[in-house]
Amino acid sequence: MEIREVAVVGLGTMGAGIAEVFARAGIGVVAIEADPQALLAGLGTLDASLARAVNRGRLDARQQADIRARVRPAAAFADAAAADLAIEVVPERLEVKRQIFAELDRVCSPDAILATNTSSLSVTTIAAASRYPGRVVGMHFFNPAPVMGLVEVVATVLSDDRVPAAAADLARRLGKTPIQVADRAGFIANALLLPYLNHAAGLLETGYATAVDIDRAATVGIGLPMGPLALLDLIGLDTSLSILEVLHAEFNLPRYSPAPLLRRLVSAGRTGRKAGRGIYRYPAAVPDGVEETAGADLAPDTVTVIGAGDDQEAELASALAAAGLNVTRNAAHPTELVLIVAESGKPVLPAALAAGRATEAVGLHLPGGLGNGALVELIATSLTSEQAMRAATALAGRLGMTIVRAPDRPGFLVGALLYPHLADAVRMVQDGYASPADIDTAMTLGCGYPRGLFELIDEAGAADVLAGLRAMYIAYGYPALAPPPLLAEHAAAGIDFAVAPPGKPATAGAGARRTGSAR
Ligand code: CAA
Repeated sequence: MEIREVAVVGLGTMGAGIAEVFARAGIGVVAIEADPQALLAGLGTLDASLARAVNRGRLDARQQADIRARVRPAAAFADAAAADLAIEVVPERLEVKRQIFAELDRVCSPDAILATNTSSLSVTTIAAASRYPGRVVGMHFFNPAPVMGLVEVVATVLSDDRVPAAAADLARRLGKTPIQVADRAGFIANALLLPYLNHAAGLLETGYATAVDIDRAATVGIGLPMGPLALLDLIGLDTSLSILEVLHAEFNLPRYSPAPLLRRLVSAGRTGRKAGRGIYRYPAAVPDGVEETAGADLAPDTVTVIGAGDDQEAELASALAAAGLNVTRNAAHPTELVLIVAESGKPVLPAALAAGRATEAVGLHLPGGLGNGALVELIATSLTSEQAMRAATALAGRLGMTIVRAPDRPGFLVGALLYPHLADAVRMVQDGYASPADIDTAMTLGCGYPRGLFELIDEAGAADVLAGLRAMYIAYGYPALAPPPLLAEHAAAGIDFAVAPPGKPATAGAGARRTGSAR
């Protein structure tokens, strides 16, 4: 079926973005917003986005004017009468959505498709309230809608077959990649993203690490486009909270139980970027990285490097010597600082005690290896002095590394964020809800991950991820950290998940056997 005109109901940030996406694809848009102030704000968002594209040379003035002319603002549902598809993009309240669908049922032709951009509510429940439930479908876009390449197309048990197929075709016409998913809370992307963001909020709240360090661990350590706390602010803490509540109600697992910090910030009106303040303030006050350059003069002149006696220890010792330090690898030599090259899953404290210099000892973990700009986790044990931490910070700064501080607990910081996220993805496959390929597509195109979660597992090796999770599970005992059997099976069999990045064929078929180390 041909879609020539659409109605977008609700012109908040997402609604304005979705209206822009349709108009850019040459489709006429009726933008319906009952609140005149919200209508103005929504059109402002759209205009700002188009102006940004013009400034970046992505659109010329003529194209900008044409796109803008395709968007017709309206205040009443009656204006949706000619639409071939109407999509609601209003806050996540079932009653409001059902009311909108009742209005659309009244004014739209019975052949028109009715779509919801709900990110977590049941599309089936919304459809069941419609007069023609077969034409209701979920079309879930990602923020910022003009940029993110994914649309989750949600069919229900009530859908006519042609409807999800038409929604997927439409998504392709918009330049997006559709993935068909069944109606389950959070679909793929939010069901994986939100517990990871929630966990990051929990790490902040419990003082495990600072906000800047948590976000750096994700961007520099994992390579994600934004840190989880900055992303919470982008999505909106209120929206995130309501998605978590829905996920928690559906799955009843502690990992979805919203961090109390989120509730407090939402109650205080600190809902994120849109409010000018969430976890961070906007516009950002302090440029990232300032604190490392200050205090570089605290760097010690003499340092002891100890570890497992592997290449990394030798590499670090020579990098420090090249930076002009007097380096020894003998713990008995008196030096100002002891650096213990930490191994994932192994606490630093026993090595610090064995060296007999626990107050001067700082763990140093290099999740991505040594290199200018690479991430270093500096680990304070319960006995590490503040002075030793400052000296280690100054030293790592002198090597040009990106520093985060973490306590001496399994996973340190990068693993503490990543391993449970990977376990959730494996569990989703184990549950039979989605394939590794769909999950990797969802996270790369919907959330801008440079690599999918299964690509990350294959890169690290299922056995290493399993070991990391096990160490965390033994330490904390949280069910979310229990390694999923499917991961253990891949580790034991030595097979990859072997997902090809979107658009590229798999080089080795799923289930390809790992070569090299007996993981
Ligand atoms: N509106 C329109 N365009 C925007 C934009 C916005 N709000 N923000 C950025 N852009 C465009 C820029 O114009 C630029 O376009 P060109 O490449 O054509 O020049 C492009 O995006 C990149 O922008 P920047 O260079 O300014 O910034 P960046 O490289 O840091 O990228 C980002 C910004 C695209 C937002 C990137 O950080 C990212 O991918 N972040 C992850 C976002 C994410 O995870 N979204 C999903 C959230 S979950 C969700 O939405 C579902 C839900 O139901 C809650």
